[in-house]
Amino acid sequence: MSTAPVYNIDLKAFQENPYPQLKDMRAKAPIAFVPELNRTLFTLLDDIKKAEPDTTHFSSEQPGGLMTVLMGENMMRKGGEAHAKERKAIFPTVSPKTARDHWAAKFAASADEILDEITPLGTGNLFETYAMRLSGEALRVITGLESLSWQEMDAVSQAMIDGISNYGGDKTVEAACHRATARIDEAITSLLETGGSGYDMCSTMMAAGLPEAQVRANIKLAISGGQNEPRDVIAGIIWALLSHPEQLEMALSGEVAWQQVMEEYVRWMAPIGMTPRRIAAPVSFNGIDFETGDDVFFMFNSANHDEKYFTNPEVFDITRDASKHIAFGAGPHFCAGAWASKALIAEVALPKLFARFTPRLTAEPVRVGGWAFRGVLNLPCKWEVSP
Ligand code: HEM
Repeated sequence: MSTAPVYNIDLKAFQENPYPQLKDMRAKAPIAFVPELNRTLFTLLDDIKKAEPDTTHFSSEQPGGLMTVLMGENMMRKGGEAHAKERKAIFPTVSPKTARDHWAAKFAASADEILDEITPLGTGNLFETYAMRLSGEALRVITGLESLSWQEMDAVSQAMIDGISNYGGDKTVEAACHRATARIDEAITSLLETGGSGYDMCSTMMAAGLPEAQVRANIKLAISGGQNEPRDVIAGIIWALLSHPEQLEMALSGEVAWQQVMEEYVRWMAPIGMTPRRIAAPVSFNGIDFETGDDVFFMFNSANHDEKYFTNPEVFDITRDASKHIAFGAGPHFCAGAWASKALIAEVALPKLFARFTPRLTAEPVRVGGWAFRGVLNLPCKWEVSP
């Protein structure tokens, strides 16, 4: 076990809102062993940026981990050459150029179709009817698995997320995860038979010569990591702006770009709160000794509130410089879907919705929760319908 100081957390409060306890940790014990999570947490931005690229000591390989066992050995749980080869294989799908020249138009067509349907309704839970659906539609085309509906995409993604965090070994959760991965495998098989668009992730990995088992594992990774995050960011930004009318005005008038709004939102409320690593060789870091096999969490959510870089970090402020945030990661596993997500969220989802209508919140409370994954859980809204 590491020699880090022990810091106890109130897990229930942490799940509701991790930020107050993370703030206290940054001040008192920025690298600390938290018994309730059985992990040593890194909470400062500089420390994470220094440790994460050091893959010799802070390894993402976890052969017996739940993710590998349930979803196959994907690139997120590999290092060095093996990881680089698979990242390179998917580059033609996720490059900034493909996002701009290919995906943006497809995302825009989906957003238009959804908005055509929901705008006349004048009311709805935008979390589901817009954010979840658009995120699912985007992931269908990116992965190539268009035989899955957007509802199925969300369901299989959630079942895998539940499965890989099922530390208690709940058999029902495990069975649901197996059903989800089987459904994805079925969709992959049918895509491999019929052929994809050439741009989608399945096609690019096959064209690069990756073995089919790796194609399957990486598609499952992209689904488990590519559905909830854009969904939570789209819904979360709408909620944050509606709760800060003066900032909504700045975004609507173009005074602050949608891209900047997105950067500040993911800084303020990181949709993925942390990434796990395992110590692969003994190392001393900031005077703390780690042994092989120690488990650590790099807390992106805390780093994005690091007072050294962000003044009044708990305040949502689209006018601040948020560029130092690490909501997409800080090392070789930096989010592969970052450019596609920016195209989807900042170039399509937000400008298109607010061009049609400006929603308003209703009396029904918006619920927010989670620490490993954090976001709004519902977004009931109303809006005016033009005659
Ligand atoms: C706002 C949306 C998103 C956020 C905030 C986000 C965040 C992240 C984070 C924090 C990581 C781990 C980085 C690390 O360990 O250093 C990650 C990895 C990854 N993400 Fe995303 N993600 C988003 C959307 C997506 C989408 C839409 C896709 C799929 C198209 C995707 C695919 C991946 C993949 C494949 C990895 C693993 C990369 C690797 O191991 O090299 N992500 N993402």
